[in-house]
Amino acid sequence: MSIDPRPAQLAIPPPVLAELEAHGLPVARLLDRVEGRLHEQVGSSHAFVDRVAKYLMSAGGKRFRPLLVALTGHLGDPERDGLVDAAVIVELVHLATLYHDDVIDEASARRGTPSANSRWDNTVAILTGDYLFARASALSADLGVEVTRIMAETLARLCEGQIREVQGSAAGTVPDEVPTLEPNLEHYLEVVSGKTASLIETSCRYGALLSGVDEPGVEAAARYGWNVGMAFQLSDDILDIASDHEDSGKTPGTDLREGVRTLPVLFGLEEDDGELAALLDTPAPSDAEVERALAVLRSGRALARARESAADYVRAAVGELETFGDPPAVTAMTRLAEYALHRAG
Ligand code: IPE
Ligand code: IPE
Ligand code: MG
Ligand code: MG
Repeated sequence: MSIDPRPAQLAIPPPVLAELEAHGLPVARLLDRVEGRLHEQVGSSHAFVDRVAKYLMSAGGKRFRPLLVALTGHLGDPERDGLVDAAVIVELVHLATLYHDDVIDEASARRGTPSANSRWDNTVAILTGDYLFARASALSADLGVEVTRIMAETLARLCEGQIREVQGSAAGTVPDEVPTLEPNLEHYLEVVSGKTASLIETSCRYGALLSGVDEPGVEAAARYGWNVGMAFQLSDDILDIASDHEDSGKTPGTDLREGVRTLPVLFGLEEDDGELAALLDTPAPSDAEVERALAVLRSGRALARARESAADYVRAAVGELETFGDPPAVTAMTRLAEYALHRAG
């Protein structure tokens, strides 16, 4: 079988991967196997379906969740059946949520390219996401009831997070009858736990479970994953304010345009003299208003405080690894948790 190369754009930087390999873990080889399987699974005999389903996969992406399956798979026996397919499942589910998320967020760019909803339209993006969910479900059925149930529960949590985010958002696109929720810190953390940490937790649970780790070990790996996931989303929210398009492959300020109160925004509002609140309360902010809000947020303490919060989650994640002693996988997982904090894209 010919193996499709992983797209190099917006990938985990080669030095980080090389460092993981230096600990004796054949990470790149495993990710290449995952890539080949992903291409197989996503393919369709209908040319247009094939094209839209492969669109985001081929555009790049870090493959962060498959990497976590691979690393946690080294906590047990990494040769066991099912690990590669589990890594493919988490990336398929992730991809499906990206197609849907860009519709929800009305995002125009993803992985350095126009998002599917802007390249085609919402209908195509939603149906492609559904198609990828279906592919993931079929693959999961082959791994058994437990793996399938875990993903079903994960997806329910993810959807709850996305729905609750919409409830806390001030965007004009939210229908009137949606009951609103106060976008405070507690609400924000619950949203992040659902929409992002759930799947990253499950990636680690899969790796530990399928490599034969005992139950307390599986739970510790899952808690590591949840904490990494929290830090990962906090970093994403920081990047929405701090980065430029080249680094993240997305459009900075997307959360602000959608009225989503992320952690840096909540912190920014705490030290606000009224200007930020006024800018954010505008239902459809202009480019100049978004630029001004970004400038206000970049100049205060909000980003530094959000980075401190993300660092707390990384510390908690690394703390969960104590139970495993000091094998190479633990060193690599520590390194990857730190990467989640310092990533540029
Ligand atoms: C984007 O995830 C969505 C979030 C949960 C923040 P990634 O940052 O892993 O996106 P890709 O896969 O690298 O494009
Ligand atoms: C991430 O949502 C969660 C999912 C995609 C399920 P965001 O909306 O915060 O992520 P980006 O910034 O668009 O990648
Ligand atoms: Mg989004
Ligand atoms: Mg979103």
